[in-house]
Amino acid sequence: MTAIQHDVLIIGSGAAGLTAALALAEHKRVLVLAKGGLASGSTAWAQGGIAAVLDAGDTFENHVRDTMVAGARLNDIESVEFVIENAPAAIDRLVELGVPFNTDGEDLHLTREGGHSHRRIVHVNDATGWAVQAALLKAAEENPNITLLPGRACVDLITGQHEARYSGSGRVWGAYALNEESGEVEAHVARATVLASGGAGRVYQFSTAPRGATGDGIAMAWRAGARVSNMEMMQFHPTCLYNLEVKNFLITEAVRGEGGHLRNPVTGQRYMEQYDPERMELAPRDIVARANDDQIKRYGLDYVHLDISHETPEFVKGHFPTIYDKLMGLGIDMTKEPIPVVPAQHYTCGGVLVDLAARTDLPGLWAAGEVTESGLHGANRLASNSLLECFVFGEAAAKDILASWDTLSDPPPVKQWDASRVTDSDEEVVIKQNWTEIRRFMWNYVGIVRTTKRLERAAHRIEMLGREIEDYYGSFRVTTDLIELRNLHQCAELIVKSALARHESRGLHYTLDYPETDEVVRDTVLVP
Ligand code: FAD
Ligand code: SIN
Repeated sequence: MTAIQHDVLIIGSGAAGLTAALALAEHKRVLVLAKGGLASGSTAWAQGGIAAVLDAGDTFENHVRDTMVAGARLNDIESVEFVIENAPAAIDRLVELGVPFNTDGEDLHLTREGGHSHRRIVHVNDATGWAVQAALLKAAEENPNITLLPGRACVDLITGQHEARYSGSGRVWGAYALNEESGEVEAHVARATVLASGGAGRVYQFSTAPRGATGDGIAMAWRAGARVSNMEMMQFHPTCLYNLEVKNFLITEAVRGEGGHLRNPVTGQRYMEQYDPERMELAPRDIVARANDDQIKRYGLDYVHLDISHETPEFVKGHFPTIYDKLMGLGIDMTKEPIPVVPAQHYTCGGVLVDLAARTDLPGLWAAGEVTESGLHGANRLASNSLLECFVFGEAAAKDILASWDTLSDPPPVKQWDASRVTDSDEEVVIKQNWTEIRRFMWNYVGIVRTTKRLERAAHRIEMLGREIEDYYGSFRVTTDLIELRNLHQCAELIVKSALARHESRGLHYTLDYPETDEVVRDTVLVP
C-alpha cells in the first residue's frame, strides 16, 4: 500500500487533537487518527471541569499564583500566564460549540477544587469531559475538511530515517499506524503532524485513566529524537473509588470543593488538620494524596472515607448526579454514608517538551495536551488546568502550523512498513505478563513515596524487561497490545530515570532520601 497523504495529521481525538483539528480545518485538510474509539481518551472521563477566571472578584494573578503554588515553582511563568490569559476565550469557543455548562442565573456556575483560592471551575454537572468530547466530535464530524479515522494505533513517527532516499534527518513526515481491524500497518504522511495522544497513566497498577493511556506519543517522540521533561512528576488523585469490581472510577475533587470531608474510617477523625491545617481537604492534590496514603499505611487500612452526607440529598444529587447514580448501582448511598476512596495515578505532568507555539524539538512535529510538558503544571498540576491546556495549546499548534505553512515542504516518498520478517505471535500471554509486572512494580517502587533503593530496583527490572520486549517486538507482527507494552516500558524507563536524577522532594516527587526542597529550581530534561 502506498503512503496516504494529508495536509496535516493529528494523532489523537481528545480535547487537544480536536481543538487543533477544528482550528486548522478552516484552511487545511486534516486527518485525525485515534486508537480504539474516537472518545476513548481521558477527555471523555473528565469530571470536575475547566478552570478559568470568569468571576469579577477573581484575577489572572490569583489563578497564576495558585498554579505556581500547586506546581511548587517548577512551572514556566510564561506558559502559565499564556494559558490562564487565554482561558476565557477558550471557554467562549466551547460555549459557541454548544457545551451546556451549568449556569447560575445569567452567568456560568463556578465550582471549587483543591488548590484554587477562588471558585473558577466551569462544569457540566460532574461529567464535563463527556459534554466537551461530544461537542468537539460533533463539530469535527460536520466539518468537510476533517476526516476522523478511529481504530488506528500509531506505531512510530515517520522521520528522515524512513524516507525512501534515507536522509536520516529528524524531520517528521507523519506516522505508521496499525489498522486495528485489518492488522495492516498504514503510512500516513503530512506536511505537519500534531501529537495529541494523551498521558501514560496506565504505567501504574491503579489509575483513573482509561485503558489506552499508555504513553504512546511520549515514547514515539522520544524514539524519534525529541527531548522529554519532568517525567518523574506523576500526579496521584487522592480520591478514586475503592471497590473490588470497579477499579478506576474517580470521585471528583469538586466533592471536597462543595464541602466533602476526609475521615479515617477507624477513628472517624477528619485528619487533614494534621497535614495542612489551613487548607484542609482543599490543599493541592499532592498533599492530600500523600495524607491519604499515610493514613492507609499507618492504620493498615484498605481505604479512607470521603463524606458529604452532611449536605442535603438534593444538594448532593444536584451537584453530582453521575457519581450518585454510579455509587447507588454499587450499593453506596452517598447522601447517607461515606464513600470509600484510595489514591490512584491520575495525570502525567511530564512529557514531550514544547514551546508556546506547541513546537517540539523535531521539525514538522507539534504536540498539545497531556502528552506534553509545556511548563504549565510544574511539579504538580492544579485541578482542572489540564483540559484548559488542551484548548490553548491545541489552538496554538494550529495557529503556528498555518503561519508557517509556506515554509513546510511536501513529504518525500517514504518506505512502506516491512512485515516480511515477522510472524504471528503464539505467546500473547507474555505481553499480558509483562504489562502486569511493569504496572505492579511501578506502583510499589515508583509511587507516591519513593526511595533511591526502590527506584534502583525498578530500573533493574526495566532493563531486564527491555531486552525481552525488544526481542518480542522484532519477531512478531505488531498488535495494539504489543505497541502499548513497548511504549509503557519506554515511559517507565523515562519516569524512573527522571526520578533518580532529582535529588530533592518537590511537588509530586517525594523521596525519603532527599526530603528537602532545593532553593534552585530545575527541570529534569532527558535527551535521547
Ligand atoms: P486524551 O483525551 O487522553 O486523548 C488521547 C487521544 O489519543 C485518544 O483519541 C486516543 O485514542 C489517542 N491515541 C493514544 N495513543 C494513540 C496511538 N498510538 N495512535 C493513535 N491514537 C492514539 N482535567 C481537567 O482539566 N478537568 C477535569 O475535571 C479532569 N478530570 C479528569 C478525570 C479523569 C477520570 C481523568 C482520567 C482525567 C481528568 N482530567 C481532568 C485530565 C484530562 O481529562 C486530560 O488531561 C485531558 O483530557 C487530556 O486530553 P488529551 O487531548 O491530551 O488526550
Ligand atoms: C476531578 O474532577 O477531581 C479531576 C479534576 C482534574 O483532574 O483536573
